Amino acid sequence: MTHRGGPVLIVEGGYPDWRAQALRALASGWPPEAVQWSDRRDAEALGGQQLGLEYTSPGASAVLADSSKQDERGVDRPLPDVRISKELAALLQDAALYRSPQRWAFLYRVLWRWYQGDRAVASAADEDGARLYGMAKSVRRAKHDMIAYVRFHRRDNGAVPEYLAWYEPEHDVLAWAADHFARRMGMTTWWIGTPQGSALWDGKTLQYANAAADTASDAASLRADAGADQVEAMWLAYYRSIFNPARLNEAALQQHMPVRFWKGLPEGRLIPSMVAEARNGARRVGQANAVGSMPGKQVAVDAQRAQPVREIPSSLDACRRCELWRHATQAVPGRGPDAARLMLVGEQPGDQEDLMGRAFVGPAGKVLEDALRRAGVGADTVYLTNAVKHFKWIARGKRRLHKTPAQQEVEACAHWLDEERTRLRPTVIVTLGGTALGAVLHRKASLRDYMQEPVRLADAWLIATWHPSYALRVDDDARREEIVAAIAAAIARGRELAG
Ligand code: URA
Repeated sequence: MTHRGGPVLIVEGGYPDWRAQALRALASGWPPEAVQWSDRRDAEALGGQQLGLEYTSPGASAVLADSSKQDERGVDRPLPDVRISKELAALLQDAALYRSPQRWAFLYRVLWRWYQGDRAVASAADEDGARLYGMAKSVRRAKHDMIAYVRFHRRDNGAVPEYLAWYEPEHDVLAWAADHFARRMGMTTWWIGTPQGSALWDGKTLQYANAAADTASDAASLRADAGADQVEAMWLAYYRSIFNPARLNEAALQQHMPVRFWKGLPEGRLIPSMVAEARNGARRVGQANAVGSMPGKQVAVDAQRAQPVREIPSSLDACRRCELWRHATQAVPGRGPDAARLMLVGEQPGDQEDLMGRAFVGPAGKVLEDALRRAGVGADTVYLTNAVKHFKWIARGKRRLHKTPAQQEVEACAHWLDEERTRLRPTVIVTLGGTALGAVLHRKASLRDYMQEPVRLADAWLIATWHPSYALRVDDDARREEIVAAIAAAIARGRELAG
């Protein structure tokens, strides 16, 4: 459809639809000022006209398209293969949820500039870049707020859906949050209403309805019920279960949820006692009683060392493939450049890594740094990760002591290591210790058998060496020196093979 002043593109299906249409517009050579963008909602105000461009969205997030489609006259028009960085793809996807009539036009301007080779557009120092970052940040905050402040009420008449919630998000984050709740409350049925539309989980699938469609359904009564002032134990149990005394920061708690709101929130009455318990526990590490049942004594750590939990939990944080998450502060992801050719795999995060959320920052990390220095390899050029992403420990007096993960925990976590290997495609993998070796080989193996020579795997070279913590355990200085030297030699060999 064209409108006075140029074509009007109407976005009906959110980001994937915008992306498809933006590619068509790029293929047509339409500069941003020649195109008008509109949401379906706003388009109705333009007289219901629409441009019917069918499109199946491509899969790869960082490649916007690589296929060819017909235009509205049935003429083949090759779509451009627009490669964007993963970071820009994430920014565009978040900014697409920013509620503003200009969002699609603005995103197209960003994409157009990128397509013209103007990479500055992805920088926060650029005017458009800064706006893009600002929009994405605001959306991420709205996502976080929604999962933090949605309150489900149980309907007392046995009706389905069993739980209802009403929430007014600042941006279009309903689908994102509904997906979050579906993964956590999958055994129940629930409905979340917002002024823009609703999400219904029937125990198997998520269905969305926009506000106009809702009016025609029984949404009005759901909305009324959702506002009912009835608090359900499920929410309270959930709140208790996510409360971790080790992470308690009272100032931040009160800043995010001022005391004057507590009486209006179901969990308000739980907070004072949970805070008191946490204080009383002298910053105990571990989870609230409701979450874990770890045997042994409670362990004191310096709460100041604990980093705030990531604001938007990653899917790794949500991992429940084994039980280790129950006693860990957080999952610790790998770190390092995606382009790294050398990947170093350790066993599992230690006490400090667990608190900081960062791999190899404790004593073993210092030994590893030393070995990297000796090998002449910059620590920031390699990718450091672990076979297991949650800290497994036992209490000994006031300390949390490392406990070797069981084979089934290593196997459960192989999913994440495989994901990292697929994403990075390292040329060389250096395994540190037996657990890492077994994780990379997907079977138990003798470290000594593999330490002699690099081994060719299907996708990379494997070099096996000692774990740096072995150097910390030996008493003998000469032996310690040998171990660190062996790790350094393995890394140096890895660098040679990586080219
Ligand atoms: N040991 C490991 O294997 N990994 C870490 O991140 C820290 C100690």
